[in-house]
Amino acid sequence: MDVLEAIRRRRSVRQFRPDPVPEEMIRTLLDAARLAPSSYNLQPWEFVVVTDPEVRRRLRVAANNQAQVEEAPVVIVCLGSLRQQDALAARLEASLPPDAPPERRERVMKTVQRHKHDPEFRKIHVLTSTYIGVAFLVLAAQSFGLGTCWMGGFDPDQVRSLLGIPEDFLVASLVAVGWPAEGLEFRPRQRRPLEEIVHWNHFGRRPDWEPVTSQ
Ligand SMILES: Cc1cc2nc3c(=O)[nH]c(=O)nc-3n(C[C@H](O)[C@H](O)[C@H](O)COP(=O)(O)O)c2cc1C
Repeated sequence: MDVLEAIRRRRSVRQFRPDPVPEEMIRTLLDAARLAPSSYNLQPWEFVVVTDPEVRRRLRVAANNQAQVEEAPVVIVCLGSLRQQDALAARLEASLPPDAPPERRERVMKTVQRHKHDPEFRKIHVLTSTYIGVAFLVLAAQSFGLGTCWMGGFDPDQVRSLLGIPEDFLVASLVAVGWPAEGLEFRPRQRRPLEEIVHWNHFGRRPDWEPVTSQ
């Protein structure tokens, strides 16, 4: 399946067959995430793969009781590493030569300070790249015909304590993975039309396109 086909076929799947997903496939999904681009090559993603039914049952409780968390044979808990963020800040600082001109020193140190100490910036920086890894993972799953449901609806503290996730990892997303239930029917996709979201050369200037109607 090519990438465009995977993108077009992917829908959020919330009902699964109980059949297991071969470990080799899970490995391939995680490897696709690993190959995603990231800011400064940060690679903040780490994953807790949950297959144990009892852990999935408890994870469901932490995820607003969403049934797919228990029903999918695999739930991948996607984490963003603040340790990687700290390592990046240290790398940036170390990259500054001792004889750097004051102007450059000031600019780099301002960047380093944000990367080291600004909690909001750090969180957004780590999560942005983590989500790109998650998107790659979800598309890789689609290429095998696996269904996924990307979830942001969970209590991060409950997930953290259930899985023993250290404080310096952000719980970014849960992804339910499994074989879609037989006969699943999806509602037509709700998407804003291209004409509404694309500007050409200048905000508000629209391309002269026929409407695109891909579902
Ligand atoms: C960041 C994020 C968080 C989401 N959280 C949930 C969730 O907690 N539960 C759920 O059932 N779907 C969740 N979804 C799935 C969206 O509802 C879904 O992608 C959207 O409605 C479009 O439908 P589609 O994925 O079938 O194209 C989430 C998707 C993303 C990207």
